[in-house]
Amino acid sequence: MLEHGGNLRDAALRFGRPVPDWLDLSTGINPQPYPVPDLAPDAWHRLPENDPALALAACAYYNAPLMLPVAGTQAAIQALPRLRLLSNGPSKVVVAAPSYAEHAHHWAQHGHQMRAVPYAGLRTAVDSCDVMVVCNPNNPTGATVPPYCLLSWSQKLAARGGWLVVDEAFGDMTPHISVAPWSDRPGLIVLRSVGKFFGLAGLRLGFVAAQQQMLTTLADQLGPWAVSGPAQQIGRAALTDRTWQHAMRTELLVDGARLHWLLADHDIKAHGSALYQWWSWPQMQAVAFWEHMAQRGIWVRLFEHQACGIRLGLPPHEEGWKRLAQALDDWHTQDKQ
Ligand SMILES: Cc1ncc(COP(=O)(O)O)c(C=O)c1O
Repeated sequence: MLEHGGNLRDAALRFGRPVPDWLDLSTGINPQPYPVPDLAPDAWHRLPENDPALALAACAYYNAPLMLPVAGTQAAIQALPRLRLLSNGPSKVVVAAPSYAEHAHHWAQHGHQMRAVPYAGLRTAVDSCDVMVVCNPNNPTGATVPPYCLLSWSQKLAARGGWLVVDEAFGDMTPHISVAPWSDRPGLIVLRSVGKFFGLAGLRLGFVAAQQQMLTTLADQLGPWAVSGPAQQIGRAALTDRTWQHAMRTELLVDGARLHWLLADHDIKAHGSALYQWWSWPQMQAVAFWEHMAQRGIWVRLFEHQACGIRLGLPPHEEGWKRLAQALDDWHTQDKQ
């Protein structure tokens, strides 16, 4: 399995500091999760039949014609390469890079011919592949592709039986670049996650938007009871709670800008999304920063493979912001000496 952020137990073992003492900034998950409501007792007791109201709530929230609930976007990321293999055989696949590594990993594992292409090269690459996978906005860099580009690439691919997979797991703060409204077009598959903006990564809930035929095949492959009863009930509450969503969007915009400017104050030119900031650095400098933070009990995400750099999520409270600011001050002073 690949390494990801949020692996606090590793941090605790490696640096000899107990889990509760860490400030975990290693993911892009909203540190202020949706407050989960009390559940009806049958959520635990009954086998989780698909509740049509959940898919409808998702269609309304994500502005998509048709959606299939899945156990996190990850379930679809793992299933799509196999589905493609069964329906079309080994395919030429382009995955935008650097990006969430699970996409490339699973396409390569299923015997497809996989090529990682930087965002700047996607427009040309679309002519020489059968499947293209793009995270929009991207994790970790925050790079975005305008919807009109994605829709034109999707049309080109569909004309030869190809697919465009757009992973919008981090798309809640940028609805204007979503292509979910057009996901009833052939070959366009859009992934959404309840884990990031709603801060409910442990719930394991996501959605796939695509044409009916694609969703039926995917559902068949994932099998019965793919999403637990509690996840269905909590997901529906979160997706329909416009008041919480509105307030959270405003709060995250403020916090995202605060993180950006805190880094800028320490001469770090970062970019990303409201939920995380990213900057690339030479490997030695990135490792030194990661160690500097870890020694102060701050767990950041170090990238060393597809690209070298650091990703930082939002502190969950004022004390966390102060701790981060102090650690950045120490780094900056030390760096200048
Ligand atoms: C871009 C992207 N897509 C999908 C996922 C998987 O999210 P989940 O399975 O929790 O929906 C992640 C997780 O970090 C991600 O970064």
